[in-house]
This record gives sequence, structure tokens and C-alpha cells, in this order.
Amino acid sequence: MRIRRAEARDLPSILAAENACFPRDISFPPETLFLLLEEATTLVAEDGDVVGFVMGFVRGEGGKVVTLEVLPERRGEGLGRRLMEALEKEFASVGARFSLLEVAVENREALALYAKLGYAKAAVMEDYYGPGDDALLMAKRLK
Ligand SMILES: CC(C)(COP(=O)(O)OP(=O)(O)OC[C@H]1O[C@@H](n2cnc3c(N)ncnc32)[C@H](O)[C@@H]1OP(=O)(O)O)[C@@H](O)C(=O)NCCC(=O)NCCS
Repeated sequence: MRIRRAEARDLPSILAAENACFPRDISFPPETLFLLLEEATTLVAEDGDVVGFVMGFVRGEGGKVVTLEVLPERRGEGLGRRLMEALEKEFASVGARFSLLEVAVENREALALYAKLGYAKAAVMEDYYGPGDDALLMAKRLK
């Protein structure tokens, strides 16, 4: 398993992962993922096929994690953690001093992962994903 920068040819795998990881009503449309693939830092975990990916970008001193996804059948192997650590390294390499992300308050797995990585709650964003679906803004200082 290796983590590498995504290329244009990874778009179909990224779209497939998006469909496998999120219900259609809350997933990014293909054109948004295409734009993010072009414009954001995208890293894929590859094990023959792409089994997960992470996207983010840096503005000033802050990095923003846009999405993190691991195929359901490959979860619990440390891939989410490795993808996040690789993205944080990319953030730091271009001068980011902190990393930010938002996560649904109901997303137990992601919350556990982010807490383990050292993210702390910065704010609650009510109705962020729709009525009654709150999000947490989480932040981490980068070394
Ligand atoms: C969140 C997600 C990326 C985690 O990926 P993963 O590869 O399974 O995570 P890892 O194996 O790296 O787990 C790292 C840590 O996260 C926590 N964690 C991950 N899955 C967990 C689970 N099912 N239950 C409890 N804790 C969990 C644990 O602390 C784990 O550390 P440990 O293995 O030492 O106990 C994955 O569940 C996913 O793709 N979910 C759907 C998409 C999503 O919700 N993305 C996040 C959007 S904000």
C-alpha cells in the first residue's frame, strides 16, 4: 500500500469511492470532485487499486481538509490515519500552521480518528448538513 499524489486518471476511482462512502444526497457531484482533483491537494492510497483518498488545500497559515474517504471493505487498517498524516505533512510543507476540518456530530468513526490525530473541537455548526444535522469544526496545530 502506498500513498501518492492523485492524477487525472484517478478520477473514476475517486468517483467510485465517493459513491461507496457517502449517500447520493450528501456526496460531492462528479464535477466538484473533478475541480478539486485539479485544484486541491489530493492524495490516494493505492494497493493495486485506489482504496481511499483525501483532499485539502492551504490558504495562508491554515490547511482545510475537504474530504477523507476509505472504501468500506478496507476500513480499520490504518489507511484513514495514514492519508490524514500525509496530507498534514503536505500542509506543513507549504507553511500551514494549523489544519481545520468539519465533521458530522454523528460520524463516530471519523470523530474517533480525528481525536486520535490530535484534532480538538473548535465550534459547533448547527444544521450544517441540513436541519438537525450539526457539524463540528475541529482544529489541530501542525508541527
Ligand atoms: C472515517 C474513515 C476515513 C476512517 O478510515 P479508516 O481507514 O477506517 O481509519 P483507520 O483505520 O485509520 O483508524 C484510525 C483510528 O480511527 C478510529 N476509528 C476508525 N474506525 C473506527 C470505528 N469503526 N470505531 C471506532 N473508532 C474508529 C480509531 O481510533 C482508529 O485507531 P485504532 O485503529 O488505533 O483504534 C472511514 O470510516 C470512512 O471512509 N468513512 C466514510 C467517509 C467519512 O465519513 N469520511 C470522513 C468525513 S469528515
